[in-house]
Amino acid sequence: MKHKRLATVILAMILAAQTSAAAASPPKIGVCIYNAADTFMSSVVRQIQKEGEGSAELTVMDSANDQNLQFTQVLDMLDDGVQALIINPVDRTSAVYLIRLAQSRNVPLVLINREPSADDLALYDGAYYVGTDPKETGYLCGELVADWFAAHPEADLNGDGVIQYVLLKGEPGHQDAELRTLYSLQAITDAGFRTQMLGEDTALWERSVGQEKMAGFLATWGNRIECVISNNDDMALGAIDALKAAGWFTGGRYMPVVGVDATEPALEALRQGSLLGTVLNDAINQGRAAWKLAWLLYKREPVTSENLGYAMDANHRVYIPSQKITLDNVDTP
Ligand code: BGC
Repeated sequence: MKHKRLATVILAMILAAQTSAAAASPPKIGVCIYNAADTFMSSVVRQIQKEGEGSAELTVMDSANDQNLQFTQVLDMLDDGVQALIINPVDRTSAVYLIRLAQSRNVPLVLINREPSADDLALYDGAYYVGTDPKETGYLCGELVADWFAAHPEADLNGDGVIQYVLLKGEPGHQDAELRTLYSLQAITDAGFRTQMLGEDTALWERSVGQEKMAGFLATWGNRIECVISNNDDMALGAIDALKAAGWFTGGRYMPVVGVDATEPALEALRQGSLLGTVLNDAINQGRAAWKLAWLLYKREPVTSENLGYAMDANHRVYIPSQKITLDNVDTP
């Protein structure tokens, strides 16, 4: 009898210890980056980690540009009991499967950077998106070019009244590549300039590919090129590498090159006078908004623009605003 009572007391103590351990253990939140080698996205994910530190057990996985690997990683994290997910899809057209998967486990999901279609996002009430408006970033990028040519008529090297440009495009199919391209050209046209495309090619967001593609454009078009439009900073810096190797940016030879992101190396190039301008792709606020969303969703709180602190549209999308960055405001906080 005595032993039985003792056993009951011990069991009660074990259960109490387990319950308090469970209450004290932080929630598990899973994060996937499409490719950890991506300069911009790794700064977004760094910010997410910073925000989550101390409140959650964050698992961060690199999907190494492989959508199948990402599905496996997400499944593993779900099996491990994550209570919310922040995923940077490898392929935005596969976002629908990620949404369905999270929904099947009733786990909220914040997609970042690669935007699912509105229809896909609407499939699950617990799915949200954080990124920028590619039309806005593209348009601002085009304005950088138009502003330059308006202030520097001599930049029209052959004086034909037409801007001869080459364009480095991000990954085909990515909304930021497709729409930035369209809208940057739209802004130049809206400012009253005519344009002629000498060359356009994808450089897959990468600096080394940007350098290679720019070297190719230079070999074909040489001095006929009057400006370089790039969908992101890494490719713009690659173009600058190729231009420098071919003798630009010394002895008064200048080429206007514009990008998007405002990464640290790009801001450095801007200060040094090679990059003409860039558009802020706000990694800090994108990381912060993604984290805040995941946290509210984990707590099963209804999300509004007010409690999130960022404007959210009726389709569960949060677009962080952009702005042009040039020498004039690069060091203004
Ligand atoms: C950024 C690129 C980045 C890409 C990744 C874009 O929004 O501007 O720098 O490589 O996202 O998906």
